[in-house]
Amino acid sequence: MLRLDKWLSGANVGSRSQVKEYLKKGLVKVNGEVVREPEYKIEEGKDRVSFREKEIIYKKYVYYMLNKPKGVVSATRDPIDETVLDLLKDTGYGNLFPVGRLDKDTEGLLIMTNDGDFAHHLLSPKKHVDKVYYVEMAGPMAEEDRKALEAGVDIGEKKPTLPAKVERISDTSIYLTITEGRYHQVKRMLKAVGNEVVYLKRIAMGGLVLDESLPGGGYRELTEEEMRKMRV
Ligand code: URA
Repeated sequence: MLRLDKWLSGANVGSRSQVKEYLKKGLVKVNGEVVREPEYKIEEGKDRVSFREKEIIYKKYVYYMLNKPKGVVSATRDPIDETVLDLLKDTGYGNLFPVGRLDKDTEGLLIMTNDGDFAHHLLSPKKHVDKVYYVEMAGPMAEEDRKALEAGVDIGEKKPTLPAKVERISDTSIYLTITEGRYHQVKRMLKAVGNEVVYLKRIAMGGLVLDESLPGGGYRELTEEEMRKMRV
Protein backbone atom coordinates (compact mmCIF):
# COMPACT_ATOMS: atom_id res chain seq x y z
CA MET A 1 0.00 0.00 0.00
CA LEU A 2 1.30 3.41 -0.99
CA ARG A 3 -0.08 6.91 -0.42
CA LEU A 4 -1.81 8.25 -3.51
CA ASP A 5 0.33 11.43 -3.70
CA LYS A 6 3.50 9.35 -3.50
CA TRP A 7 2.17 6.91 -6.01
CA LEU A 8 1.40 9.71 -8.47
CA SER A 9 4.72 11.49 -8.10
CA GLY A 10 6.45 8.13 -8.27
CA ALA A 11 4.66 7.53 -11.56
CA ASN A 12 6.09 10.88 -12.72
CA VAL A 13 2.73 12.67 -12.90
CA GLY A 14 4.34 15.62 -11.10
CA SER A 15 6.20 16.68 -8.00
CA ARG A 16 4.59 15.99 -4.63
CA SER A 17 3.26 19.57 -4.44
CA GLN A 18 1.94 19.54 -8.02
CA VAL A 19 0.24 16.24 -7.34
CA LYS A 20 -1.48 17.69 -4.26
CA GLU A 21 -2.85 20.47 -6.46
CA TYR A 22 -4.12 17.99 -9.05
CA LEU A 23 -5.83 16.05 -6.30
CA LYS A 24 -7.50 19.20 -4.96
CA LYS A 25 -8.77 19.99 -8.44
CA GLY A 26 -10.35 16.55 -8.75
CA LEU A 27 -8.17 15.48 -11.67
CA VAL A 28 -7.35 12.09 -10.20
CA LYS A 29 -9.60 9.06 -10.16
CA VAL A 30 -9.11 5.74 -8.45
CA ASN A 31 -11.19 2.93 -9.92
CA GLY A 32 -13.33 5.51 -11.70
CA GLU A 33 -14.04 7.69 -8.65
CA VAL A 34 -12.54 11.10 -7.97
CA VAL A 35 -10.22 10.97 -4.95
CA ARG A 36 -8.93 14.18 -3.39
CA GLU A 37 -7.09 12.87 -0.33
CA PRO A 38 -3.29 12.69 -0.78
CA GLU A 39 -3.07 10.08 1.97
CA TYR A 40 -5.53 7.72 0.24
CA LYS A 41 -3.90 4.27 0.15
CA ILE A 42 -3.28 2.61 -3.19
CA GLU A 43 -2.94 -1.11 -3.56
CA GLU A 44 -0.29 -1.59 -6.20
CA GLY A 45 -1.22 -3.86 -9.07
CA LYS A 46 -4.91 -3.74 -8.11
CA ASP A 47 -6.21 -0.18 -8.00
CA ARG A 48 -6.52 1.61 -11.33
CA VAL A 49 -5.48 5.22 -11.19
CA SER A 50 -6.17 7.82 -13.85
CA PHE A 51 -5.08 11.44 -14.25
CA ARG A 52 -7.07 13.67 -16.58
CA GLU A 53 -8.96 10.54 -17.66
CA LYS A 54 -5.76 8.77 -18.73
CA GLU A 55 -4.71 5.61 -16.96
CA ILE A 56 -1.34 5.86 -15.30
CA ILE A 57 1.04 2.95 -15.50
CA TYR A 58 3.20 2.80 -12.44
CA LYS A 59 6.76 1.65 -12.74
CA LYS A 60 7.52 -0.85 -10.06
CA TYR A 61 11.26 -0.60 -10.42
CA VAL A 62 13.18 2.57 -11.10
CA TYR A 63 16.87 3.16 -11.72
CA TYR A 64 18.67 6.44 -11.18
CA MET A 65 22.19 7.63 -11.78
CA LEU A 66 23.34 9.94 -8.99
CA ASN A 67 26.46 12.09 -9.02
CA LYS A 68 27.21 11.73 -5.33
CA PRO A 69 28.82 14.79 -3.83
CA LYS A 70 31.31 14.83 -0.94
CA GLY A 71 29.91 14.88 2.57
CA VAL A 72 26.89 12.66 1.88
CA VAL A 73 26.75 9.10 3.18
CA SER A 74 25.77 6.07 1.07
CA ALA A 75 23.00 5.02 3.39
CA THR A 76 19.24 5.34 3.43
CA ARG A 77 19.15 6.88 6.89
CA ASP A 78 21.67 8.42 9.20
CA PRO A 79 21.19 10.25 12.49
CA ILE A 80 23.73 12.95 11.62
CA ASP A 81 24.74 13.11 7.99
CA GLU A 82 22.77 13.79 4.87
CA THR A 83 22.16 10.55 2.97
CA VAL A 84 22.00 9.73 -0.73
CA LEU A 85 18.30 8.96 -0.25
CA ASP A 86 17.75 12.51 1.03
CA LEU A 87 19.12 13.72 -2.31
CA LEU A 88 16.47 11.73 -4.20
CA LYS A 89 13.48 12.51 -2.03
CA ASP A 90 11.71 14.46 -4.79
CA THR A 91 11.42 11.27 -6.83
CA GLY A 92 8.60 10.18 -4.54
CA TYR A 93 10.20 6.76 -4.20
CA GLY A 94 11.05 6.38 -0.56
CA ASN A 95 12.21 2.79 -1.06
CA LEU A 96 15.35 3.51 -3.07
CA PHE A 97 18.75 2.34 -1.92
CA PRO A 98 22.27 2.71 -3.28
CA VAL A 99 23.84 -0.10 -5.28
CA GLY A 100 26.99 -0.44 -3.21
CA ARG A 101 28.71 2.29 -1.30
CA LEU A 102 31.01 5.18 -1.81
CA ASP A 103 32.86 6.68 1.14
CA LYS A 104 31.57 9.95 2.57
CA ASP A 105 34.43 11.85 0.92
CA THR A 106 34.16 10.01 -2.42
CA GLU A 107 32.24 11.53 -5.30
CA GLY A 108 30.69 10.21 -8.46
CA LEU A 109 28.56 7.48 -9.90
CA LEU A 110 26.11 5.78 -7.60
CA ILE A 111 23.15 3.85 -8.92
CA MET A 112 20.00 4.19 -6.85
CA THR A 113 17.18 1.71 -7.32
CA ASN A 114 14.41 -0.19 -5.58
CA ASP A 115 15.22 -3.39 -7.51
CA GLY A 116 16.98 -5.76 -5.14
CA ASP A 117 17.78 -8.41 -7.77
CA PHE A 118 19.41 -5.84 -10.02
CA ALA A 119 21.57 -4.57 -7.13
CA HIS A 120 22.46 -8.10 -6.11
CA HIS A 121 23.54 -8.92 -9.65
CA LEU A 122 25.82 -5.88 -9.86
CA LEU A 123 27.33 -6.37 -6.42
CA SER A 124 27.85 -10.12 -6.54
CA PRO A 125 31.58 -10.81 -6.02
CA LYS A 126 31.35 -13.58 -8.61
CA LYS A 127 30.26 -11.22 -11.35
CA HIS A 128 33.44 -9.10 -11.27
CA VAL A 129 31.67 -5.98 -12.43
CA ASP A 130 34.16 -3.30 -13.54
CA LYS A 131 34.31 -0.11 -11.49
CA VAL A 132 36.38 2.76 -12.80
CA TYR A 133 37.74 5.42 -10.46
CA TYR A 134 39.48 8.69 -11.13
CA VAL A 135 42.16 8.93 -8.46
CA GLU A 136 44.33 11.86 -7.42
CA MET A 137 47.26 10.90 -5.23
CA ALA A 138 49.54 12.67 -2.78
CA GLY A 139 52.67 11.50 -4.58
CA PRO A 140 53.70 10.42 -8.07
CA MET A 141 53.24 6.80 -9.09
CA ALA A 142 56.38 4.82 -9.85
CA GLU A 143 56.21 2.30 -12.67
CA GLU A 144 56.80 -0.58 -10.24
CA ASP A 145 53.82 0.59 -8.15
CA ARG A 146 51.64 0.73 -11.23
CA LYS A 147 52.66 -2.83 -12.07
CA ALA A 148 52.04 -3.96 -8.49
CA LEU A 149 48.52 -2.51 -8.52
CA GLU A 150 47.82 -4.22 -11.82
CA ALA A 151 49.07 -7.56 -10.51
CA GLY A 152 47.26 -7.32 -7.15
CA VAL A 153 48.44 -5.99 -3.79
CA ASP A 154 48.25 -7.08 -0.18
CA ILE A 155 45.74 -4.87 1.64
CA GLY A 156 45.88 -6.82 4.88
CA GLU A 157 43.27 -9.42 4.01
CA LYS A 158 43.61 -13.14 3.33
CA LYS A 159 43.86 -12.64 -0.39
CA PRO A 160 45.57 -9.92 -2.39
CA THR A 161 43.42 -7.74 -4.62
CA LEU A 162 42.49 -9.11 -8.03
CA PRO A 163 44.33 -7.78 -11.07
CA ALA A 164 43.39 -4.19 -11.82
CA LYS A 165 43.97 -1.77 -14.65
CA VAL A 166 45.89 1.46 -14.17
CA GLU A 167 45.86 4.19 -16.76
CA ARG A 168 48.09 7.15 -16.13
CA ILE A 169 46.66 10.63 -16.55
CA SER A 170 49.45 12.62 -14.94
CA ASP A 171 52.22 11.98 -12.40
CA THR A 172 49.73 12.10 -9.57
CA SER A 173 46.47 11.03 -11.19
CA ILE A 174 45.23 7.76 -12.68
CA TYR A 175 42.14 5.89 -13.78
CA LEU A 176 41.94 2.71 -11.78
CA THR A 177 39.63 -0.12 -12.83
CA ILE A 178 38.85 -2.78 -10.25
CA THR A 179 36.47 -5.72 -10.33
CA GLU A 180 35.89 -6.12 -6.60
CA GLY A 181 34.27 -3.94 -3.98
CA ARG A 182 36.21 -4.38 -0.77
CA TYR A 183 35.94 -1.87 2.03
CA HIS A 184 37.89 1.33 1.22
CA GLN A 185 39.50 -0.70 -1.53
CA VAL A 186 41.03 2.04 -3.66
CA LYS A 187 42.44 3.92 -0.67
CA ARG A 188 43.91 0.72 0.74
CA MET A 189 45.40 -0.27 -2.61
CA LEU A 190 47.17 3.06 -2.94
CA LYS A 191 48.34 2.82 0.65
CA ALA A 192 49.76 -0.62 -0.09
CA VAL A 193 52.12 0.97 -2.62
CA GLY A 194 53.13 3.77 -0.24
CA ASN A 195 50.88 6.43 -1.72
CA GLU A 196 47.71 8.16 -0.56
CA VAL A 197 44.40 9.04 -2.19
CA VAL A 198 43.61 12.76 -1.95
CA TYR A 199 40.58 12.80 -4.26
CA LEU A 200 38.40 9.94 -5.44
CA LYS A 201 35.57 9.85 -7.92
CA ARG A 202 33.82 6.86 -9.47
CA ILE A 203 33.22 7.47 -13.13
CA ALA A 204 31.86 4.15 -14.39
CA MET A 205 30.37 0.88 -13.20
CA GLY A 206 29.37 -2.17 -15.21
CA GLY A 207 29.46 -0.30 -18.50
CA LEU A 208 27.49 2.65 -17.15
CA VAL A 209 29.40 5.92 -17.42
CA LEU A 210 28.69 8.90 -15.16
CA ASP A 211 26.89 11.65 -17.06
CA GLU A 212 29.29 14.54 -16.54
CA SER A 213 26.50 17.04 -17.12
CA LEU A 214 25.05 16.05 -13.73
CA PRO A 215 26.18 18.49 -11.05
CA GLY A 216 27.19 17.12 -7.62
CA GLY A 217 23.96 15.92 -6.03
CA GLY A 218 22.23 15.78 -9.41
CA TYR A 219 20.50 12.65 -10.66
CA ARG A 220 18.46 11.31 -13.54
CA GLU A 221 16.80 8.09 -14.55
CA LEU A 222 18.86 5.63 -16.57
CA THR A 223 17.94 5.48 -20.23
CA GLU A 224 16.79 2.26 -21.84
CA GLU A 225 20.08 2.02 -23.67
CA GLU A 226 22.03 2.36 -20.43
CA MET A 227 19.85 -0.32 -18.86
CA ARG A 228 20.53 -2.64 -21.78
CA LYS A 229 24.28 -2.14 -21.41
CA MET A 230 24.13 -2.92 -17.72
CA ARG A 231 22.25 -6.17 -18.18
CA VAL A 232 25.02 -7.66 -20.33
N1 URA B 1 37.36 2.66 -2.73
C1 URA B 1 37.50 3.50 -1.69
O1 URA B 1 38.53 3.50 -1.03
N2 URA B 1 36.49 4.33 -1.43
C2 URA B 1 35.35 4.39 -2.15
O2 URA B 1 34.47 5.20 -1.85
C3 URA B 1 35.24 3.51 -3.22
C4 URA B 1 36.25 2.65 -3.50
